[in-house]
Amino acid sequence: MAGQAVRLRGWLHGKRSGGKVCFLVIRDGTGICQCVVEAAAADAFAAATALTHESSFEVTGTVRIDERSPGGAEVAVTELRGFQTADEFPITRKAHGIDFLMNNRHLWLRSNRPTAILRVRHTVIRAIRDFFDGNGFTLVDMPILVPGAGEDRQSLFPVTYFDESVFLTQTGQLYLESACMALGKVYCFGPTFRAEKSKTRRHLTEFWMVEPEVAFAELDDVMALAEDMICAVVDAVLAANGPELEFLGRDVAALKNIRKPFHRLTYSQAVELLRSEPTRQALEAELERDTVRLQGLIAELDACEQSLAGAKKGWQQDKIESRIRELRENIQDLEQDVRARPDHIRLAQSFAWGKDLGGSDETIVSRQFDRPVFVTEYPRDAKAFYMKVSPRDPRVVRNFDLLAPEGYGEIIGGSQREEDSAVIEESLKAKGLRPEDYTWYLDLRRYGSVPHGGFGLGVERTVAWLCGLKHVRETIAFPRTMGRVYP
Ligand code: 4AD
Ligand code: MG
Repeated sequence: MAGQAVRLRGWLHGKRSGGKVCFLVIRDGTGICQCVVEAAAADAFAAATALTHESSFEVTGTVRIDERSPGGAEVAVTELRGFQTADEFPITRKAHGIDFLMNNRHLWLRSNRPTAILRVRHTVIRAIRDFFDGNGFTLVDMPILVPGAGEDRQSLFPVTYFDESVFLTQTGQLYLESACMALGKVYCFGPTFRAEKSKTRRHLTEFWMVEPEVAFAELDDVMALAEDMICAVVDAVLAANGPELEFLGRDVAALKNIRKPFHRLTYSQAVELLRSEPTRQALEAELERDTVRLQGLIAELDACEQSLAGAKKGWQQDKIESRIRELRENIQDLEQDVRARPDHIRLAQSFAWGKDLGGSDETIVSRQFDRPVFVTEYPRDAKAFYMKVSPRDPRVVRNFDLLAPEGYGEIIGGSQREEDSAVIEESLKAKGLRPEDYTWYLDLRRYGSVPHGGFGLGVERTVAWLCGLKHVRETIAFPRTMGRVYP
C-alpha cells in the first residue's frame, strides 16, 4: 500500500547511484524490491553507498507507487542498517562456465535461475505429498542403511557399519512392501543412492524418490495412480510457478497439454516402433534439421566474436561475452548430440528384443508423443527380481516405465510385485543375489500375501522435465554425480 511504513531485510542484489540518490535492489528470498535512498537521509545514504553486492542489510521506509520499479512499487528509505559488508562476490553479471558455478554452488544458489528451479522443486514435492495424503496414503519412512540390494548389485554404495559392510539404500520399496501389508496404502519419500558410473544428463548418485505401494492393486491400478499423480503435480506447478517457468523459458503450452489418458504401449510395441522405417525417416530428418541449426549457432558465434572487438562500453562487452558463452555451451551440447545421433539411430534400428531400453531409445520413443507414455511388460531378464512374471507370457513382467514427453525419458518405474516365493528365489539367483539374504522379504509372501504393486518417481528427472532443463544436476541444491561431491 502506498504510504505504508515497511521494514525489509535481505541482501544487495543490485545498485545504481546517481549523485543525490542511490537505488538499491534488495533480495529477501521471496523476491526483489527497489529501495530509494536520497542524500538528504545522510546516514542511510552513506551506508547505502558503502554496500557491496550480496551485503546483508535492513531498510526502513515508506512504500511509494512507481511504475518504473520492478513490481510497480518501491521503498523510500529513511533508515538503513548493515549486517555485513560482503567480500567481492565471485558470481558476477559476467557469464560463468558450469564448472565454476557448480564449484560455487553454495553461492550460486542465490541467483535467479537456481532459485526459480528450487521453487518449482518445492512445488513438485508439496504436490506429491498433498496427492498421497489426500488419497488415504500413510507416509512411512524407510531405512537408508540396508544389508542388501533393492535393485541391482552393480550400483550399490558400500558403507562400513561398525564391523560389517552394508549399503546405502537404492530404493525403499522392499521395506515399503511390508508397511503396505500393515497399512494398506503407504508411501515413502527419501534420498536414494546409486553408484552410477555413467555421466549422463539423467543420472545422479544421490537422488530423491517418492514410492507409493498399494495392497490389492494390480498393474492397471498402479498405472492409474501414477497418471493421476503426474496430472496433480503438473497442475500444481502450472498454478504456482508461472513466473518461474517463464523465467526459465519453459514452453508452458506443452505442460498444459498433459492430461489423462496418457499413451500406453507394450515393450514389444516400443521395440517395433524403434525399428520401424517411419521412425528412421523421422530421425534422419531431425538430424538434418539439427545440423542446420548447429551451423546457424556457429555463424552467430562468429558474428558475436567479431562484434566483441568493436564493443566499447563494459556492459556491452559483458552482454556479448554472456551470449558467446551461452552459444559455446549450446554448440558444444548440440555438436555432441549430433555426433551421437547416427549411433542412436543405428541402435534403435537394430534393437534386439530382450534388452532394456537405453536412454537414447527412451528419447526416441518419448519424442513421438505429446503426453507421457507408459511402456509396459518388459522382458523379465532386463528388469528387477521382484516384478510379477506375466501369467500370459512368462518372458515378460507386469511392469511399466513412464516416459516423459519431449525426449525426457523415464521418470517413473513401477510394477505389480511377484507373490510366488519360488519365482522370486529363481529371479534372485538369476541376478546373482542370494535368496537367504531376503528371508524377511520372502516372509511377506508367507503371511497373508495379496496382489500389490507400486512405483518410484525420481524427483530430479521430473523437475528437469517440468522446468525444461537439459541436465538433472540443476534440479537439486547440491548435486552428487560421479565427478562431484563438492561443495
Ligand atoms: O526405475 P527405478 O530403479 O525403480 C525403483 O527403484 C523401484 N524400486 C521403484 C518402485 O517400484 N517402488 O527408479 C525409479 C525412478 C526412475 O524412474 C528415475 O526417475 C529415478 O527413480 N532414478 C534416478 N534419478 C536420478 N538419477 C539416477 N541415477 C536414478 N535412478 C533412478
Ligand atoms: Mg527404472
